[in-house]
Amino acid sequence: MMEWTDRHCRFFLRLISKRTFLYTEMVTAEAVLYGDRTRVLGFSPVERPLALQLGGSDAEKLAAAARIGADWGYDEINLNVGCPSDRVQSGRFGACLMAEPELVGDCVAAMGASSGLPVTVKCRIGIDDQDEEEDFDRFIDMVARAGCGTFIVHARKAWLKGLSPKENRDIPPLDHARVHRLKQRRPELEILINGGIGSLNEARAHLTHVDGVMLGRAAYADPYLLAEVDRELFGANATMPSRLDVLDAFVPYVEAELARGTRLNAMTRHILGLFHGQKRARAFRRHIAESGHLDGAGLEVLQAARGIVAGEAYRTVAAA
Ligand SMILES: Cc1cc2nc3c(=O)[nH]c(=O)nc-3n(C[C@H](O)[C@H](O)[C@H](O)COP(=O)(O)O)c2cc1C
Repeated sequence: MMEWTDRHCRFFLRLISKRTFLYTEMVTAEAVLYGDRTRVLGFSPVERPLALQLGGSDAEKLAAAARIGADWGYDEINLNVGCPSDRVQSGRFGACLMAEPELVGDCVAAMGASSGLPVTVKCRIGIDDQDEEEDFDRFIDMVARAGCGTFIVHARKAWLKGLSPKENRDIPPLDHARVHRLKQRRPELEILINGGIGSLNEARAHLTHVDGVMLGRAAYADPYLLAEVDRELFGANATMPSRLDVLDAFVPYVEAELARGTRLNAMTRHILGLFHGQKRARAFRRHIAESGHLDGAGLEVLQAARGIVAGEAYRTVAAA
């Protein structure tokens, strides 16, 4: 998710779940080809398994960018065919490509050939006045024929005219059943469902119909939601870290990044939801939000925030 799942966020999420597959923010093929590659593509090996999500519609450029992604060690290349922003439409990529399955197929084939990695597609169930049955099936069939075996489907249309990207994540109605039907019709394809899924129980229910579930906003707002994924969904027998364990494990990373000149807030803004629903969660969030962005803010902010949720401040008061 753009501006959200950057490498700091992903490192943090990986402390909570080892098995969840993580995705980068969308980066354009041009940014990969002509941008500062360390900034655009750099990640810690700890973040794997990790997919690089690309945006674009020029098969040659996408192929070159996918190849570079493979060289950097990504496990999968994903093509964004779901983003509805105007900026993205004017560059002819994102959700508007739902109307151009042949072009998407060409891009997928070129990316697969150049990178040697699995190429997956993240799409919607349609755009504007497309027919959610026929047009969507046609899109999937043509792109699958070009070599895409995995689709991650945000189970609502994108309405490209008149809605903001944010509205396009909430207003077009969700149709999870349409994604389930896709899996029934093409059982040999790997189908992952996305959109409005807020808990592991909901995810588990979808898994009786499809192969995987992608969580977006829920996992960002309440990242500890992922803590049970390894055990419950992947059958791993590792012990689940506590929220405080996660926070403590993040400290050495933050320390190393601070030493490299990264601002504290660039990392701590992603952990605001760690204590979601717990006692003193609001005070934890407030302390980090208010102090984390100040010039020179360092580990002491994190330590004080830890004290708040661990109840140290309360114990001090009680002992006084
Ligand atoms: C801030 C934000 C940024 C997003 N950026 C991307 C992106 O870069 N690529 C993408 O495929 N989807 C992006 N999305 C959409 C999500 O991946 C997801 O499809 C959508 O939020 C619906 O799933 P959810 O209800 O689980 O959040 C973004 C969503 C949000 C809230």
